[in-house]
Amino acid sequence: MATYIASSLFIVYICFFTRLCFADDPFVNFDFVVSYITASPLGVPQQVIAINGKFPGPIINVTTNNNVVVNVKNKLDENLLLTWNGIQQRRVSWQDGVLGTNCPIPPKWNWTYQFQVKDQIGSFFYFPSLNFQRASGGYGGFIITNRDIIALPFATPDGDITILIGDWYTRNHTALRKTLNAGKDLGMPDGVLMNGKGPYQYNSTLVPDGIDYETINVQPGKTYRVRVHNVGMSTSLNFRIQNHNLLLAETEGSYTVQQNYTNLDIHVGQSYSFLVTMDQNASTDYYIVASPRFVNESIWQRVTGVAILHYSNSKGKASGPLPDPPNDQYDKTFSMNQARSIRWNVSASGARPNPQGSFHYGSINVTDLYVLKNKPAVTINGKKRTTLSGISFVNPSTPIRLADQFKLKGVYKLDFPTRPITGPPKMATSIINGTYKGFMEVILQNNDTKMQSYHMDGYAFFVVGMDFGEWTENSRGTYNKWDGIARSTTQVFPGAWTAILISLDNVGVWNLRTDNLDSWYLGQETYVKVYNPEVNNKTEFPMPDNALFCGSLSKLQKPQKISAATSIMGTTSKLLWSLVVMISTVISVFS
Ligand SMILES: *[C@@H]1O[C@H](CO)[C@@H](O)[C@H](O)[C@H]1NC(C)=O
Ligand SMILES: *[C@@H]1O[C@H](CO)[C@@H](O)[C@H](O)[C@H]1NC(C)=O
Ligand SMILES: *[C@@H]1O[C@H](CO)[C@@H](O)[C@H](O)[C@H]1NC(C)=O
Ligand SMILES: *[C@@H]1O[C@H](CO)[C@@H](O)[C@H](O)[C@H]1NC(C)=O
Ligand SMILES: *[C@@H]1O[C@H](CO)[C@@H](O)[C@H](O)[C@H]1NC(C)=O
Ligand SMILES: *[C@@H]1O[C@H](CO)[C@@H](O)[C@H](O)[C@H]1NC(C)=O
Ligand SMILES: *[C@@H]1O[C@H](CO)[C@@H](O)[C@H](O)[C@H]1NC(C)=O
Ligand SMILES: *[C@@H]1O[C@H](CO)[C@@H](O)[C@H](O)[C@H]1NC(C)=O
Ligand SMILES: *[C@@H]1O[C@H](CO)[C@@H](O)[C@H](O)[C@H]1NC(C)=O
Ligand SMILES: *[C@@H]1O[C@H](CO)[C@@H](O)[C@H](O)[C@H]1NC(C)=O
Ligand SMILES: *[C@@H]1O[C@H](CO)[C@@H](O)[C@H](O)[C@H]1NC(C)=O
Ligand SMILES: *[C@@H]1O[C@H](CO)[C@@H](O)[C@H](O)[C@H]1NC(C)=O
Repeated sequence: MATYIASSLFIVYICFFTRLCFADDPFVNFDFVVSYITASPLGVPQQVIAINGKFPGPIINVTTNNNVVVNVKNKLDENLLLTWNGIQQRRVSWQDGVLGTNCPIPPKWNWTYQFQVKDQIGSFFYFPSLNFQRASGGYGGFIITNRDIIALPFATPDGDITILIGDWYTRNHTALRKTLNAGKDLGMPDGVLMNGKGPYQYNSTLVPDGIDYETINVQPGKTYRVRVHNVGMSTSLNFRIQNHNLLLAETEGSYTVQQNYTNLDIHVGQSYSFLVTMDQNASTDYYIVASPRFVNESIWQRVTGVAILHYSNSKGKASGPLPDPPNDQYDKTFSMNQARSIRWNVSASGARPNPQGSFHYGSINVTDLYVLKNKPAVTINGKKRTTLSGISFVNPSTPIRLADQFKLKGVYKLDFPTRPITGPPKMATSIINGTYKGFMEVILQNNDTKMQSYHMDGYAFFVVGMDFGEWTENSRGTYNKWDGIARSTTQVFPGAWTAILISLDNVGVWNLRTDNLDSWYLGQETYVKVYNPEVNNKTEFPMPDNALFCGSLSKLQKPQKISAATSIMGTTSKLLWSLVVMISTVISVFS
């Protein structure tokens, strides 16, 4: 017993001095080589971004509280950062992989991310955050499995299937970027991919010959957890599986009240888990469909993703028309009601044993209110830009978090307005001053004619209301104060608002952005700085030893040896960790 305490203390001691206080949670290591490969998902050869030669990239599958180490090698011809959509990066905005927190990884360099997936479960994904690269791929699923001691709120599924859906252009991200830089629209996408593949030829007029499509193989009678992520650029997609119910079970880390849907709208950046039971007679294969929403479907017919659900006892190919989408092309009420019907299961345990609903968000007083409004793109200084509350965000050359660390002045302003500015739109590096331990209410008001989705890094927020028209203080009367879902990406309908509540308990600098890639690229984002004046290593970990430097700090950056690259942090942490494990083992053997 005494030696046990001694060895534990020893670990704590080591942690304290090496800044690597991850307790004894296991480390899981990944090596990601990011490079271009040639693929022809829509029949036209193009360069796509692959990870370890694969498009989409590998699924990261870890368990709650694991320490995830991802060594990313950049073999692209431009800067790279990967970001971890929905992973909360508690206390380590240093690892978030966006320009406000990290310097980019230059071509030919590698950089190692390290973060703990603290107190999280659920379905997420990663993607490259810079330079419009997501338009060329580079994404993959990210699963956090519950620990064995935490029960699932449903029977253990017989299998786990990830489906990445998203709109796609046959032009690559550099070409698309050029179009946007020239102030033009990208136009209609060329198709919708499912797991990096084009549509099944359900109609030979609409789908050319020779397209490689995705097949999901299943066994009759079994129930699968199907995790669906919209990793595309700007198109909301209606997801459905012919003749099968989708029992919604989880979204972005929260268990939902389980309800059947025949189809669900999945907006850009959103993730859902469905339980799907293979209860059909397999007279044929079945279509899996992701079709565009809120566009003229007769023009957009080609922009439809189709994969195949194949039972092991299937008697034939899928044929005939696709299952119908909701018949409401010009009425968004159905879709909004569907979104409102997604509720939190307040009695299910998430990552910790206490029920989620023990956190009564509805009775906490709001400390900060921000009304963020987006409008159609505008011209500022002769350039086409998008805005939030009249401000088009300019990324600083020195990341905000690094600037704070080195007490650099003038990199950004903590003056993001609580209400949209009334004057002409402007370009600025203006961010939100969040109150640490405060409770922030954000109204996302969409004054554009296009669907938007918004994402916040570092947090899950409560989606408490959405409605058409302009938000007013009276709108609070309609809020769901009990079982609004906690998630990291929400849709905001055109001409409508969505209200979210955020408990600002994660210290750092966190990106708040539209997930629509073109609007994001043109400036529709900001950051929320959550600062604890009492600096300590418990609320935020110190800057990692391998931090990259750029902008006005670039003189601090040591060159990386291209061939045998090494990092101080990677090596020290592994060495020290082995040392701790070794010594504890020795102690326990002798006790
Ligand atoms: C992207 O497409 C352009 C034009 O087709 C081509 O010149 C360029 O090499 C491509 N770039 C990459 C990174 O694939
Ligand atoms: C680069 O990768 C090597 C191994 O391939 C690793 O030892 C090193 O720590 C990595 N460098 C950084 C900065 O992550
Ligand atoms: C909510 O979670 C509980 C606890 O795991 C589970 O028993 C129940 O079936 C779930 N309820 C719904 C409606 O999903
Ligand atoms: C993820 O890992 C868990 C064990 O940790 C395993 O049970 C599960 O099947 C894995 N899921 C996938 C999709 O690989
Ligand atoms: C294929 O699609 C075209 C264009 O929408 C349509 O006219 C035709 O009827 C479809 N063919 C079949 C067999 O459904
Ligand atoms: C969902 O649909 C399945 C049939 O596909 C049915 O067995 C199940 O009871 C339904 N569940 C709920 C909660 O409605
Ligand atoms: C299988 O089910 C479909 C409808 O779901 C039905 O039309 C068909 O007749 C059934 N086939 C057999 C062999 O039972
Ligand atoms: C959709 O596009 C078609 C073809 O351009 C056009 O004829 C039709 O009027 C459009 N539908 C609506 C409702 O705008
Ligand atoms: C919220 O504010 C009200 C009125 O200002 C106050 O009475 C109440 O105690 C506060 N609630 C909490 C949980 O702080
Ligand atoms: C930011 O907010 C804190 C309170 O949370 C306040 O003390 C500080 O003065 C604010 N900073 C600026 C620049 O407004
Ligand atoms: C945009 O805002 C103006 C002024 O409040 C309003 O008249 C208009 O209807 C709004 N448009 C949309 C699409 O929300
Ligand atoms: C945080 O950890 C670093 C490195 O161990 C140490 O230098 C620093 O003093 C610590 N800060 C506080 C406030 O404990």
